[in-house]
Amino acid sequence: MILVRAMEAADLDWAIALCARLEGAPEWSRAVWGRVLEADPHRVALVADDEWQAGFAVATVVGPEAELELIAVAPERQRRGVARALMAELAGRVREAGAEEMVLEVRASNRAALGLYEQAGFVVTGGRARYYRDPVEDAVLMWMRLV
Ligand SMILES: CC(C)(COP(=O)(O)OP(=O)(O)OC[C@H]1O[C@@H](n2cnc3c(N)ncnc32)[C@H](O)[C@@H]1OP(=O)(O)O)[C@@H](O)C(=O)NCCC(=O)NCCS
Repeated sequence: MILVRAMEAADLDWAIALCARLEGAPEWSRAVWGRVLEADPHRVALVADDEWQAGFAVATVVGPEAELELIAVAPERQRRGVARALMAELAGRVREAGAEEMVLEVRASNRAALGLYEQAGFVVTGGRARYYRDPVEDAVLMWMRLV
């Protein structure tokens, strides 16, 4: 069973270590993570637990637009619906925070994330050439209506 809950300070070390293990996940500084965990109505940070912590997702809400900033699942827990459960709960929470649509950008080569987002209902709206560094790569822009 997968349970999705709000991220807590006690999840921080685990989340940072998970990002360091995952190709495709940004390595945010502790200062950035500190802001994620602040009681901020414009930010939604969730953790999915199965037997223990399995994955997390972070989004911001500005007016009617939410942006998915990061979603990550531990390699040994992938392909079991953890990210799907996170996306479903995230969509509900950002809607509650006032969002009517959600946007994101993703590396063009990230097949797992592209598959996840398409399954969740996102559509491709465009791209940004050479947007990412290390390695340099295009970004795919995606959008989903929430209401
Ligand atoms: C992308 C990621 C979060 C998916 O997590 P997950 O828990 O394995 O995904 P789920 O099991 O919920 O899969 C849901 C759907 O996503 C798609 N998907 C997930 N992994 C996939 C893969 N490796 N290849 C193709 N499609 C994939 C499928 O459509 C899948 O549905 P299905 O299993 O019924 O086919 C995970 O691969 C990950 O953490 N990647 C590294 C970090 C990253 O790149 N994050 C995104 C950018 S911030």
